[in-house]
Formats: sequence, structure tokens, C-alpha cells
Amino acid sequence: VITAFAPASVGNIGIGFDILGLALERPGDEVVARHGSEPGLRITAITGDEGKLPYDAASNTAGVAALALLLHLGALDHPIELEVHKKMPFGSGLGSSAASAAAAVVAVDALLEAGLSRAELLRFAAEGERVATGSLHPDNVAPSLLGGIVLVLEKDPVRIEQLPVPDNLWVAVVYPHVEVLTRHARAILRPDVPRESWVRQSARVAGFVSALYRGDLELLGYCLHDEIIEPQRAELIPGFWEVKNAALRAGALGCSISGSGPSVFALCGSRQTAEIVGTAMQGAFGVESERFVGKVNTRGAYLV
Ligand code: HSE
Repeated sequence: VITAFAPASVGNIGIGFDILGLALERPGDEVVARHGSEPGLRITAITGDEGKLPYDAASNTAGVAALALLLHLGALDHPIELEVHKKMPFGSGLGSSAASAAAAVVAVDALLEAGLSRAELLRFAAEGERVATGSLHPDNVAPSLLGGIVLVLEKDPVRIEQLPVPDNLWVAVVYPHVEVLTRHARAILRPDVPRESWVRQSARVAGFVSALYRGDLELLGYCLHDEIIEPQRAELIPGFWEVKNAALRAGALGCSISGSGPSVFALCGSRQTAEIVGTAMQGAFGVESERFVGKVNTRGAYLV
């Protein structure tokens, strides 16, 4: 029996819509894989989902990712049983579906002793994300699987660059108990971007990457300003602007929406600041919430 863990992640990192993402230390999902008795892949248990996720492997994020890998290995008939243990809410903007997909491919790869690298597993995990959200955007699945901070250069076929993670970088994430579905949060976006916004935002994305290479947290904070997506999605998150202001006043380098929301993340220069910022953000939310404070997870998905 194999158990794999894959961490939550912050898609977009504010300025890089669909192209940047980072892995968190926790929370994360677990997938258990074992040899079964009937041919083919079966999902035998799902926990932590309040009964919302499908057992049919072809419609389940973890199932689809595992099936894509099995197809590649020529092992679709191999009897395999999967258990999916959700340890984080979905519709939270924490990359929950991506974590299940990442854990599934790592577990199945290990069970069949296929020996594929995390980078090779990425395209199969990305297929799982496609079913969950209706579009292919590997900005959660890539960091969840590989760890660290990832730039997605091309989504199909997926090509990524892993970026350096400054030593003193801390992340505070607050998840308010409201549900925002990625599918909906994408549907409300305007299809076009004014040229001047595009120019300014491109400069900040480039500056952000440069800041990571230099470990320059001041530049990182300066560049963490999204003028394209954040203003359009803010209204989906009750209290977003108050939360953002509270984070910045408490000393965050920058603050924005985690993935498609409703979670909000802040980057900070020390553990102490991240704890203070997390508390301030939680206080500013008008609704019940949970917070996670930690470093960027550079390990990615792993066998438990
Ligand atoms: N990058 C995608 C979005 C998924 O913002 O819609 C984020 O989790």
C-alpha cells in the first residue's frame, strides 16, 4: 500500500495569472493506492469532501490524473484501488483539486514502480485539473507536485521553469469560509486587457522573477501588485479590500487573492511578520476563517 501527500498551493501569486504558483507546507491531500482484485482503476473511498466528489474515476480529479498516467504506461487494466483523503476544502483557492491529482500520480507511479520523475508526471496530473475546473492551467498542479515557486511557460504540452525561493520568504494564507468555484471565477473575467495595463503588469511579472533570483524582498513586494485580475475578482470575496489593507498595514510585502479565491495570501519577510499578518487578515475578514502560516514548500508531493 502506497500513500502520497501533495501540498496546497497558491496559484497566480497575484500577478501571474495562470503562469505563477507556489507550494505551501500545509494543508495538503493524501491519496492511497493499492493493488485491487478487479481489472482497472476504482476509487474505493473518499473522505473529507462532505460527499461532494464523484467515485467514478473518469470524472474525479485524482481518478483522471491516475488514468492519464495508466494510459501512458499501458496499464489501464491493472487492478488498482485508490482512496482520496481531502485534508483541505475545495472551492477555497488553495489548489485542492490539483493536490489530489498530484498525490494520485505520485501514488500510482510508486505502486507500479514506474519510476517517472515528478517533471514527467506533471502532464498527467494536469489532466486531472482540467476535469475539475473545466480548463487546463497548471499553476497549482506544478508547484503541488514539484514544490517551490513555478513559472508555467506553456500549458499544453506543459513546460515549466522552477524559480528560486528566497530563504527568508514566508507565506500567510487565510481561507474564509465561503465557496468560490474556479469555473465561475474564470467566467466573470473580461476577455481583454487594456494595453497600458498589460505593459505595467508585464514589467512587474518580470521584476518579480528577477527579485526571486536576487532574493530581493523589497522588489518582490513592489512587484506583487495585480491590476488586471484582482479588481475583477475582489467582489467574490467578502471583505477582500479590508483584508488586503490589514495585511499591508501589518507589514506584508504584498497581498492578493490565492488562485481564484476566496483564500487571500500575503508574502512576508519573516515568520514573526507572517504570524502577525495572518492574524490581522483573519481579524479583517467578516466571516469565519482559517489561517496557514509557513515557508514555501520546496519538496512538493512525497510518499508518506
Ligand atoms: N490560475 C487559475 C485561476 C487557477 O486563477 O483561475 C487558480 O487556482
